[in-house]
Amino acid sequence: MAKKTTNKKLAVLTSGGDASGMNACIRTVVRYGLNKGFEVYGIRHGYKGLVNDEIFEMDYSSVSNSVHAGGTILRSARCLEFKEKDVMLKAADNLLKRGIDNLIVIGGDGSFRGVEDLHENTEVSVIGIPGTIDNDMGYTDSTIGYDTACNTVIDAILKLRDTITSHDRIMVLEVMGRMSGNIALNSAVAGGAEYVIVPEAPADVDEIARSVKRGFDKGKTSTIILLAEGKNELKDELVEKVAAATNRRVNHMALGYMQRGGIPTMADRVLAARMAQRAVDLIECGQSGRVVGVRGGDIYDTTVLEALKIPKEFDEQLYNLAITISK
Ligand code: ADP
Ligand code: F6P
Repeated sequence: MAKKTTNKKLAVLTSGGDASGMNACIRTVVRYGLNKGFEVYGIRHGYKGLVNDEIFEMDYSSVSNSVHAGGTILRSARCLEFKEKDVMLKAADNLLKRGIDNLIVIGGDGSFRGVEDLHENTEVSVIGIPGTIDNDMGYTDSTIGYDTACNTVIDAILKLRDTITSHDRIMVLEVMGRMSGNIALNSAVAGGAEYVIVPEAPADVDEIARSVKRGFDKGKTSTIILLAEGKNELKDELVEKVAAATNRRVNHMALGYMQRGGIPTMADRVLAARMAQRAVDLIECGQSGRVVGVRGGDIYDTTVLEALKIPKEFDEQLYNLAITISK
């Protein structure tokens, strides 16, 4: 049971694209926060709900039976008006008029810009937790939802392999990641895809087409090419040239929103819980304008400004390994 020792108040919201594990994160914020003596409030629909005053008190049972659920029980939204200062100030007033001066934001880099704006311009203390399947934030090794999304891609590779092997075909499987090839690269290595095309590295479509042909000539019965969303302008050329080189049918499929939802993996749930704990601890210490990350397995925190400046490093070693082992 929660023991209320003070009248400290804390709110939590999820913003931007939903990611599996967000609920495990909300659950820990709520229950750990209650245990620390906070009154805990949920905000529905991200910054949009903050602007529209969709704020409600949460208790232990508000997060019952949610740790395994995908999506976000708080709902999410995009709210472009939040970038306007007067709208952001009005949103902060909706918290302050209730005496809530602490906020935890779970979201991606766009949401973190909102964290910085609130921190700089209002009396609300704000802490960010990275929740996005893209794993595209440089200050943290992983983000909530990324591991689950990769496992969904791996599962798709396995299923698609059955069909294309049965029909001696080739599959171009497009996966999410507008700016980052992390999902594509790691899923290719873990799922055994033969080729991976990412925004961070140049792709030679003619050479891929020739190489796929060589593979079939040597007795391969199927080939999967993982194409990151950030390079999807190559899709038509790829399908055309690989089909022409191999004289085989090439299917294209975009896995799309399947990657965002679903039961979160253990890794995402535990990461979410550990990050939530740090966020509540930071709030308790009176910190603001900081975000939680993970480095080498350890949870840490840094300023949101620093975090937003660090570019995501591309794992060239893994990329080269993927090329070496897959053909
Ligand atoms: P994500 O957080 O997953 O990267 P978005 O980039 O869509 O998703 O951002 C989510 C929300 O964060 C936006 O709808 C907006 O409300 C807020 N946001 C994005 N950019 C800014 C910004 N520059 N300043 C303030 N708020 C922002
Ligand atoms: O969550 C990140 C992401 O999945 C991107 O990879 C994708 O392009 C984008 O969200 C699409 O989201 P929406 O349609 O909700 O804007």
